[in-house]
Amino acid sequence: MTQRIAVLAGDGIGKEVMPEGLRALEAAARRFDLDLTFEAFDFASCDYYLEHGQMLPDDWHSTLVGFDALYYGAIGWPETVPDHVSLWGSLLKFRREFDQYVNLRPCRLLPGIESPLAGRKPGDIDFYVVRENTEGEYSSVGGTMFEGTEREVVIQETVMTRTGVDRVLKYAFDLAQTRPRKKLTSATKSNGIAITMPWWDTRVAAMGERYPEVEVDQFHIDILTANFVLHPDWFDVVVASNLFGDILSDLGPACTGTIGVAPSANINPEGTFPSLFEPVHGSAPDIAGRGIANPIGQIWSGAMMLEHLGQPEAGAAILAAIEAVLAAGDAGTLTPDLKGHGTTEGLGRAIAERIAADA
Ligand code: NAD
Ligand code: IPM
Ligand code: MN
Repeated sequence: MTQRIAVLAGDGIGKEVMPEGLRALEAAARRFDLDLTFEAFDFASCDYYLEHGQMLPDDWHSTLVGFDALYYGAIGWPETVPDHVSLWGSLLKFRREFDQYVNLRPCRLLPGIESPLAGRKPGDIDFYVVRENTEGEYSSVGGTMFEGTEREVVIQETVMTRTGVDRVLKYAFDLAQTRPRKKLTSATKSNGIAITMPWWDTRVAAMGERYPEVEVDQFHIDILTANFVLHPDWFDVVVASNLFGDILSDLGPACTGTIGVAPSANINPEGTFPSLFEPVHGSAPDIAGRGIANPIGQIWSGAMMLEHLGQPEAGAAILAAIEAVLAAGDAGTLTPDLKGHGTTEGLGRAIAERIAADA
């Protein structure tokens, strides 16, 4: 059965890491005899915006809805298009309109990478951030009054719904249930944000009753960030609201050496809409155009996409190839964020060759 993948490279290093993601997927497709087709689109990028005055064509929904998955690079070029315009006009629209309410972000210290946390070894950091992805603090409810005057008031509401919170909690508990440690940590701020956050805690407690085997822990977000650094080994599945999950999913990967390796899956678990796979990182304007971005976040996101498409062996083979190339530790192959002096393409090719060689 052919599986159709829409490819949206986006901006900056998105355009540089995407070819390496595709190279790995093509190598995996050859090895496992998968029937994947890729169709590239130039929209959902700031270049498209500059030409058309909008991030997406009017028919974007009908164009994309029939795909089996969306493979995204990174988006944003604040020099020419304000970030809230480019992101609300594309990525955040996909997440909301395709109801990708789970953002699954693994944080794993991979072999061969040195953690900035002293003494940490692979196995010490191995957890998932499950981020609520369609509501919470990322809300368009609010507005500005008395604009431009001394009386200016700016309001943006946090929106949490019982359906929206319960469904992401259920996903996180289900995931914890499949893990050897069966541990779930919830991130809130119930001492200070005294309406939505204590309510989230009650939903965690209610859901927890359905999962007696899962050990539940909760922290206020401030001390939780400290514990990510001090005790990353405490965590197994960490579930959080949209904003807290966003912050934790940069901090976690930073503890694993570089955000350049971190993948993510924006999932619509029911399969009503396509899910979207993209690295955690952004378009990195500071290094864009130099061919030195780490492609592993993009490649690992492709592995998550294959798993989602019912090809777990092919996904696992991509991750195994990433690990083998990292463990080999050749400085000429590794990108500068991994303390090497290699290039995006060189690292991508090494991983694709390894996928093929392992056959
Ligand atoms: P960023 O993730 O783009 O970069 C942060 C830092 O990490 C930079 O120093 C960058 O060089 C480095 N970095 C990121 N990815 C790397 C990689 N693969 N290899 C090596 N180094 C890497 O975050 P930012 O600077 O806050 O944002 C830049 C732009 O990207 C903005 O427009 C922002 O809105 C956008 N953004 C998009 C996404 C997304 O598409 N999902 C995510 C985050 C930020
Ligand atoms: C991410 C990004 C996005 C987010 C931005 C670019 C809107 O940081 O995917 O983590 O906040 O969700
Ligand atoms: Mn982020």
